[in-house]
Amino acid sequence: MYDFNLAPDTPKAERYDYLLQCASALVDGEPDGVANMANLASLIWQLVPDLNWAGFYRSVEDELVLGPFVGKPACIRIPFGRGVCGAAASQAATQLVPDVHAFEGHIACDAASRSELVVPVIREGKVIAVIDLDSPEPNRFDSEDADGIERLAALAASCI
Ligand code: SME
Repeated sequence: MYDFNLAPDTPKAERYDYLLQCASALVDGEPDGVANMANLASLIWQLVPDLNWAGFYRSVEDELVLGPFVGKPACIRIPFGRGVCGAAASQAATQLVPDVHAFEGHIACDAASRSELVVPVIREGKVIAVIDLDSPEPNRFDSEDADGIERLAALAASCI
């Protein structure tokens, strides 16, 4: 049984250190990428507060295809360059969006989403997936969240 938990007032730096520690333990020795994505999505959901969606899209040819996630059912295919996820994939760069309504081309999968963080997972110079976090709170994510999820993406690059 796994029981990952943090006090609500845990500072972000400590929160992401713990997330990385738990993530490394969860994927250790497991070669199945789908299983690892599923557990990593669940771990984000458990340890990062105020989210309404957390999960993966995988690069398949020139589009992103929905992967393991926690949250409401979401759009399945996103062409590179479309929406926040497609921007992260085509630019190979983290997208920190304080107000999704102000992001041209944002794809609304859950009407409750107000802010979003998308981080590319890069292996051997190629974007193999993105990690997408949505929040119902405007301006929910900052550079500490981006750094933390980028560290998780570096781990994911070796195990998904
Ligand atoms: N909002 C994303 C689509 C994926 S959902 O948020 C789960 C986008 O604009 O790419």
